[in-house]
Amino acid sequence: MNTFQHKTVVITGGTDGIGKSLVLAFLAKGANVVTCGRNQQKIIALESEAPMGKLSVLNLDVTVERECQRLVDHAIAAFGSIDILVNNAGISMRGLLSEGGSDMIPVIKKVMDVNFYGTVYTTTYALPHLIKSKGVVVGVSSIAGYRGLPGRSGYSASKFALQGWLEAIRTEMLPKGVHVMWVCPGFTASNIRNVALNSKGEAQGESPLEENKLMDADTCAAHIIQSIQKRKRTLVMTFQGKETVWLNKFFPGLTDKLTYKFFFKNGELIK
Ligand SMILES: NC(=O)c1ccc[n+]([C@@H]2O[C@H](COP(=O)([O-])OP(=O)(O)OC[C@H]3O[C@@H](n4cnc5c(N)ncnc54)[C@H](OP(=O)(O)O)[C@@H]3O)[C@@H](O)[C@H]2O)c1
Repeated sequence: MNTFQHKTVVITGGTDGIGKSLVLAFLAKGANVVTCGRNQQKIIALESEAPMGKLSVLNLDVTVERECQRLVDHAIAAFGSIDILVNNAGISMRGLLSEGGSDMIPVIKKVMDVNFYGTVYTTTYALPHLIKSKGVVVGVSSIAGYRGLPGRSGYSASKFALQGWLEAIRTEMLPKGVHVMWVCPGFTASNIRNVALNSKGEAQGESPLEENKLMDADTCAAHIIQSIQKRKRTLVMTFQGKETVWLNKFFPGLTDKLTYKFFFKNGELIK
């Protein structure tokens, strides 16, 4: 049974990477999709790939509260309900606190604004509609939401905050029938590392990973959609992700050392 036919799915940051794969996969399953991004060229490119009348793409920034309200209002005006909200829009960062110093503070705030507050705003305005539909709220988190990663201090903080907030909302929503969950992709090929902010707050313009060896965004989106269909509480993708979460829970000191070894070489952050 196709459980997504004629459902309305709102996805933040659906113009690139995992979000774009989610948009196209939900459309292929017959859902109506409302999404957003800030880059007009990417919006036009996405619109050209979608069937008529099933997709709305808004040019907006999730760090602005009233823009998130506009996204929700638009979904209701266009399709009448919201069944699934996927809080996907996210940015990353790369920089060591000891090197960046106080320059890192606005970087960390920016990452929190997108990854955490973008989710808070959108979920808050969508919640009355999700209560009506007994729908699903999804947070696209990360392994960094379970285990702080060096060089990604602000990113890790944003994903820990995301998970803590969603866990609280999940509990509040128990009697209302709204399902709240989060998913944690492993390293997935996308634009996220290219545009990750360095300690000066500029896009680093390259990826420290071999992107072609990572999971592709379509596969990642397929896992996410399956976990939504099964109304899972959480999804940690990849063996490396599961191993990291498990080790960190039972052997946190050892995991500090293993994480350091993974990210550093001769005292330099290499990933
Ligand atoms: N790729 C990975 O390895 C990985 C691993 C774990 C978790 N994740 C999570 O997966 C999610 C998607 O990441 P991705 O890898 O697909 O990144 P991506 O390729 O950089 O795509 C991010 C999307 O979000 C949009 N976006 C960014 N900032 C926004 C803002 N302020 N307002 C509205 N839209 C915004 C981008 O469009 P514009 O820039 O045009 O606005 C783009 O459509 C993120 O939450 C990320 O933390 C990714």
